[in-house]
Amino acid sequence: MNKPHRRQKISVRNEWSAGKSLAPELHVVGGVITATTGKLMNFRKTPASPSGDKPSPSRRELIKLAGAGALAANSASPAAAKTNAQTAAEPGNARMPRGLPQDFQWGTATSAYQIEGAWQDDGKGESIWDRFTHTPGAIKSNDTGDVALDHYHRYKDDVAQMKSLGVRTYRFSISWPRIFPQGAGQPNAKGLDFYDRLADELLANNIDPYATLYHWDLPQALQDSVGGWESADTAKAFADYAGYVSGKLGDRIKHFFTMNELNTFVELGHGTGEFAPGQKLPPARLNQVRHHAVLGHGLAVQAIRANAKPSVKIGIAENLVAAVPVIETPENISAAEQAAREINAGYLTVILEGRYTDAFLAAAGADAPKFTGEELQAIATPLDFVGINVYTPVYVRAIGAAPGYEIVPFAKSHPRMASAWQFFGPEALYWAPRHLQKLWNVKDIYISENGCAAADEPAADGVVYDSDRIMFLRSYLAALQRAITEGVPVRGYFLWSLFDNFEWSSGYGTRYGLIHVDYATQKRTPKLSAAYYAEVIKRHALA
Ligand code: FCB
Repeated sequence: MNKPHRRQKISVRNEWSAGKSLAPELHVVGGVITATTGKLMNFRKTPASPSGDKPSPSRRELIKLAGAGALAANSASPAAAKTNAQTAAEPGNARMPRGLPQDFQWGTATSAYQIEGAWQDDGKGESIWDRFTHTPGAIKSNDTGDVALDHYHRYKDDVAQMKSLGVRTYRFSISWPRIFPQGAGQPNAKGLDFYDRLADELLANNIDPYATLYHWDLPQALQDSVGGWESADTAKAFADYAGYVSGKLGDRIKHFFTMNELNTFVELGHGTGEFAPGQKLPPARLNQVRHHAVLGHGLAVQAIRANAKPSVKIGIAENLVAAVPVIETPENISAAEQAAREINAGYLTVILEGRYTDAFLAAAGADAPKFTGEELQAIATPLDFVGINVYTPVYVRAIGAAPGYEIVPFAKSHPRMASAWQFFGPEALYWAPRHLQKLWNVKDIYISENGCAAADEPAADGVVYDSDRIMFLRSYLAALQRAITEGVPVRGYFLWSLFDNFEWSSGYGTRYGLIHVDYATQKRTPKLSAAYYAEVIKRHALA
């Protein structure tokens, strides 16, 4: 098990005290969390269980959880039976309704800073993550992304690894400071060339590239010159970069995610200071950063539409806080829907509705962000698809008083994966996409990330037997299949992650990959979960 570190070891007080109230009241039962004024939650900051201990789940618990997943998969409706009959890849699947729609896409995901290395190669500028990781004490073991997986030089072999899994889609991110070393101004042709070669290599291997334009590695020059996301100039510079890249690569990259997890880079980078650029801003300034992040997203959508070919599709990859009704009663379900809308008010809600909710503004009071109607319109520029990163649930139930819902704390014994913030809750992968459909009528949904860390260690035969990751994937995928069979329009799934990689402030000790990486030799070795995922892809059905 990984040692608790920084963002993993979260006290209830810290989690709920950063920043001033921004979301409506988050009521919590059980007396664990007493704060009644809400904060914008980040899923990585889900309340720790009272003790903070992480008990290992017993064999009996694991069997029970896997059983629950299987039940969900088998309780298919007549509509589901039709989908499965149409799509089952093998005859057996018609009897066992575990298939997925024919055009459902399986993929894996990574991000630039976490794998590329080559931090100064070919004219790349410094990013805020370069600066942050070079600050002693900021990252566990003072790990940095200077070399990472050296993917910048090994991308061909890495694409071959992907191919052997059978994935047909790959989500990666483009490093802004490779393209614009100073954030704006003169583009760096050599930086663009790398993604050009990568896109070609993927297509030559029949893998469809999905690119994220911002996975947190802001050019340091923009942090220094205008204060990064504290300034609307950064939002504008992001749009210019997005327009430029999509114009150059949009002939081959047909799907762009503007940003990855606004909630995380804003809250942890500017609220708690655990992520780059390590700021702990007071409430009004933090709210302005939140606003500039969604504004940057909206302006980028417009810039891509203006510059890329019309066939290019644009979305976002946000970590919607996944409100799950703790017991599926009609009252709790509607409470969970309400919670999903309000807890995500500063991010997906404003992006999909074009307004900040009344409760959000009331809670922010004098610290509310400054914005114009024109900005709100830009923020809500229609998207072609919405991606959500789903790792963990937040349990909710209905209450008679305002705001109509409350958060139910996790039991001390609630099983968690190897990242202490990641409580096991496969239902999140049913409810999160269902909320997108129900609340905002989203027609094309991607699960842009899902996966888990495990205490992976190669056995004597060199294989990592990550049975917990397989259990996790099987259970979460069963919940996803439940959503799809009920008509929730999920088009694809990107497993986080293809490889073990640099896990932000946790460094290299926290492993999320299907493929093990020996960082001393750069040797890649598929884990048992890679064989599991390859089987799912081959069958095009749960395995
Ligand atoms: C997500 C990030 C991704 C990785 C996974 C574990 O929040 O988008 O880069 O850190 O969590």
